[in-house]
Amino acid sequence: MIKKIESLEDYKDQYQKSVESPEQFWSEIANTFSWRKTWDRVVDWDFKDLDVKWFSGARLNITENCLDRHLDTNGDKIAIIWEPNDPKESTIKYSYEELHQEVCRFANVLRKNGAKKGDTICLYMPMVPELAIAVLACARIGAIHSVVFAGFSAKALSDRINDAKCSLLVTADGSFRGAKTIGLKEIADDALESCPSIHSTIVYQRTGQPINMRSGRDLWWHEEMEKVGENCDAEIMDSEDPLFILYTSGSTGKPKGVVHTTAGYMTYAEYSFKNVFQYEDGDVYWCTADIGWITGHSYIVYGPLLAGATTLMFEGVPTWPDAGRFWEICAKHSVNVFYTAPTAIRALQAFDDSFVLGHDLSALKVLGTVGEPINEEAWQWYHELVGKENCPIVDTWWQTETGGIMISPLAGITPLKPSYATLPLPGIQPCLMDADGNEIEGNDVQGNLCIKYPWPSMIRTTWGDHERCKNVYFSNYEGYYFTGDGCRRDADGMYRITGRVDDVINVSGHRIGTAEVEDALDEHSNVVEAAVVGYPHDIKGQGIYAYIICSPEPEDVDAFRKELLEVIVEQIGPIAKPDKIQVVSGLPKTRSGKIMRRILRKIAEGATDQLGDTSTLLDPTVVEEIKSGAL
Ligand code: WTA
Repeated sequence: MIKKIESLEDYKDQYQKSVESPEQFWSEIANTFSWRKTWDRVVDWDFKDLDVKWFSGARLNITENCLDRHLDTNGDKIAIIWEPNDPKESTIKYSYEELHQEVCRFANVLRKNGAKKGDTICLYMPMVPELAIAVLACARIGAIHSVVFAGFSAKALSDRINDAKCSLLVTADGSFRGAKTIGLKEIADDALESCPSIHSTIVYQRTGQPINMRSGRDLWWHEEMEKVGENCDAEIMDSEDPLFILYTSGSTGKPKGVVHTTAGYMTYAEYSFKNVFQYEDGDVYWCTADIGWITGHSYIVYGPLLAGATTLMFEGVPTWPDAGRFWEICAKHSVNVFYTAPTAIRALQAFDDSFVLGHDLSALKVLGTVGEPINEEAWQWYHELVGKENCPIVDTWWQTETGGIMISPLAGITPLKPSYATLPLPGIQPCLMDADGNEIEGNDVQGNLCIKYPWPSMIRTTWGDHERCKNVYFSNYEGYYFTGDGCRRDADGMYRITGRVDDVINVSGHRIGTAEVEDALDEHSNVVEAAVVGYPHDIKGQGIYAYIICSPEPEDVDAFRKELLEVIVEQIGPIAKPDKIQVVSGLPKTRSGKIMRRILRKIAEGATDQLGDTSTLLDPTVVEEIKSGAL
């Protein structure tokens, strides 16, 4: 097993070693896994042509590392604790032995239905253990999983299925979210109207609601599981075979399928999990993310299971039946490590303290956050009220593309600083770039965050479009991976992420491309042009502000806004609903026709006195009109 970093000195030594002898550093860590064949070379890389390979020549199956290798010594240990949406329903626990059996069975179901190595399989599921089982079953047979967050619309689902040409879809009849029930199968049926590549759908029964099962295509999970045995040989994969695709938003309209491969992702998932959270044998670990996002992939499923940990999965929402639900679950399962998003913290902070104080949180040792910058007030609340000032908070900076946590404190080992992600993990070489594309040396500086050396779990390509991956991430600064984030390095060399510097909005920790929202708004027949920007939002971190040119002018603006929200829900999903929609007669454009988003952002922020020079605009008067109508 991977040995954890034990002290600040140890961290410094390991960091130095990782920079001076990266190959030796990573091969020692990789040696702790179970391989069918070890590697010929640790790393080969070329950022210019984007060709990165870790552990070339090695053969393995990641599920043998997540499951099989724990069975001899830890088969009875609890792998997954599942907490249902409704607290009146029972918790379900899977030991490593049981999880292994379920994964093998479902892998056999996939094989029986024609799935094989290299196929792409879409998972559109609620937060039930079967989602984790399906993820691992895909990996077991060498199929590439593409999990689509169950809050996405039929259109978003079909776009993702078609981009990856998935042959199978695994879904559920419905999902429970707080007091709501969502008809997932119905949404999937809609999506499948335009997905010719899907030949079978496997449906897990969760809510029991009536659904249509199309004969010849749709199969019940529970019926299929009856028909297969529990022995399933793992497909032996190449180190660089794709493990999964996960779609994420960028600055252009179409979400891109970030591709992660097998051996490097595995190595970094366990390494980062153990070190950041300082997971100790016997700890109960809970990450509140959804498996539909990268955080769920790396830190609900792969990282913890690779480490032989007990990982808790929660189906519901933090505020139902009341705002104490998170803390009730922490108390119920004596959770030791708790990892959530700043937006959830801010939402809960708005309720009475008694929702926290009413539960026994004495088992907590480590707290974490991910997804967006955490403001100091939320940090303090989390530290004092939840952590009783006894728990280090790891503010973990990373991205779908990085596969694992890149900059973060190591709990109890390295120093903390509120609102700072602090220091890079060993193996990670961040740098800041200036406007001329030069690296900014020294401390107490600010720039665009890049990474200058490969790390095992880095993005390898975007599905079906390698050029796009090169352009988006490796062309702004030649020889560097560009994160899209702005960043400060303070006098002590600690990193603070200041937010996106591209046209991506971070709403409640979810990445949403402004172009994606604009394209969706354009679908309304009366929309002539839409411009979308982010603005500071107390709970969500950033809110979405949409400026709309409409023709004919709406008679009832409120009714028009409602229609636009419906279009967004249809095209993307509720997470992309604009918070504010302003109807305007024109947009500030340069003479060449480019929308001046900077001006729109300032107006959305309410900083109308900081618009700068608007005289070069095509039509400066439009700014006055927008200002006076600002929401
Ligand atoms: C932002 C989530 C500040 C950042 C794992 C990044 C953060 C984007 C932090 C990636 C943090 C994530 N502090 N900002 N601790 N963590 N971000 O791909 O802008 O959903 O580029 O991955 O979230 O979002 P993604």
